[in-house]
Amino acid sequence: MVKARLALIPYPNSVEYTGGSIPAVSIDPEGASVTLCGLQDFAEDTAAEAYILHIGAEEIKIIAPQKIGVFYAKQTLQQLREAGGDVPCCKIFDQPRFAHRGFMLDVARHMTTIENTKKLIDALARMKMNVLHWHLTDDQGWRVPVEKYPRLIEVGSVRARSHFGQQKVDEPYGGFYTHDELREIVAYASARHITVIPELDIPGHMTCAIAAYPQFSCTEEQLEVGDHEGVYEDILCVGKDEVMQFVYDVLDAFCDIFPGEYFHIGGDEAPKKRWKACPHCQQRMKDNDLQNEEQLQGWFNKQVAAHLAQRGKKTVVWNEALKSGQMGDEVIAQSWFDPGRHAIRFANRGHAVIMSDNGSNYLDYPYGRIPLKKIYKYNPFRFGLTRKGRQSVLGVEAPSWAEYMRDFDRVCYMTFPRLCAVAENGWTRKKNYKDFRARAEQFVPQLVALGIYPALPGIWDPSPKTRAQETIDQAKGLYHTAMMMRHDEA
Ligand code: ACM
Ligand code: ZN
Repeated sequence: MVKARLALIPYPNSVEYTGGSIPAVSIDPEGASVTLCGLQDFAEDTAAEAYILHIGAEEIKIIAPQKIGVFYAKQTLQQLREAGGDVPCCKIFDQPRFAHRGFMLDVARHMTTIENTKKLIDALARMKMNVLHWHLTDDQGWRVPVEKYPRLIEVGSVRARSHFGQQKVDEPYGGFYTHDELREIVAYASARHITVIPELDIPGHMTCAIAAYPQFSCTEEQLEVGDHEGVYEDILCVGKDEVMQFVYDVLDAFCDIFPGEYFHIGGDEAPKKRWKACPHCQQRMKDNDLQNEEQLQGWFNKQVAAHLAQRGKKTVVWNEALKSGQMGDEVIAQSWFDPGRHAIRFANRGHAVIMSDNGSNYLDYPYGRIPLKKIYKYNPFRFGLTRKGRQSVLGVEAPSWAEYMRDFDRVCYMTFPRLCAVAENGWTRKKNYKDFRARAEQFVPQLVALGIYPALPGIWDPSPKTRAQETIDQAKGLYHTAMMMRHDEA
């Protein structure tokens, strides 16, 4: 009996070898026989995405409760076909470990073309990932036209210069996606069973909107669109009714484009300095019996989540939005950097969380800081989660922040193969790094065929010396330059 491992990412959860093998070139994913049989015919805890795949010498059969399982079975077949060689005959029973398997793309700092975004979606689909979280607005750029507020694009989509760390480009940078382009991506993703979660990051990270409409901040000072990394002090003034109306209008405009169930409202890194000194914000606190500015953000989140709920949406927030201590089932929390362990407590109270700890999942961090092995070994069941807390973990997501990634090649280099590890963390229960690394090397040509050029294997797990150097460099804010130079030389 053949005992070969299958060239698959993520690795299936159960493989039973049945003897013999077939040439990979003979596999035709579209030629497989398909039986849709309904979830009732499977064991009680079977996921809707499950599939059974029989690879036999005579026939390839897919059995699944839903179309999505058929789609995943075909991704398995496609990967096996492209890996080449002989494929051992087997029966695969497979289903994801987690419901949420995501990738976040930041197009506010540097945009990715629609064509290249489709390549990323192709790669997500191939790896059975199901969420593209699209970070569409930030201090440094607004990317979605909103009819009622034309200056968001006229002013907010272009910055005068880009001074990110040591990369200083003294020329304007800007752009936006048309509604047709945004809808094209939603449809392209949806055809591949991927949900697009749009992010409107509020109330902080809004410098570009404030540059367009200074009356939406507390001080009303005229600002420029952001041109550097970091946290900006000027945020939306949530004490003004016209700002609340602006937020609702923008949410509505986004909802008309993005039909998915989830909507991300950011909520990270919102300094409270301006709110403390603002008569409108202080009045809002008084009117609503709020004790401090964190509670004001909690109040704001609740209004926004209620508005989105009316549109049938669930609201996702970064973990800082939990600091008010007032959030409940109206939001799903995404944990990225949470020294106060708010997300852990939130999960332990039974509310849903997505795990994206920055020290293990941030794809813009250098390989020296997050080697492939580290991202692979990430355990989404963080220390402190109770049984109930673990049950509240929806899944994993890896963000790729784009301050330092000014073109698609750089995004690909930083994202792959580390995103392959995230895909496996989200899907596969029993993992093995050595085996994964070998499969990741086998997977590289498939990524290249999709137009994605991953980092070279020599970069994936840097030496202890490089790890130490890049960790120090990152702390000093220097690493990006060194890392990208290596990329340019590679
Ligand atoms: C974040 O990295 N500010 C969510
Ligand atoms: Zn204010």
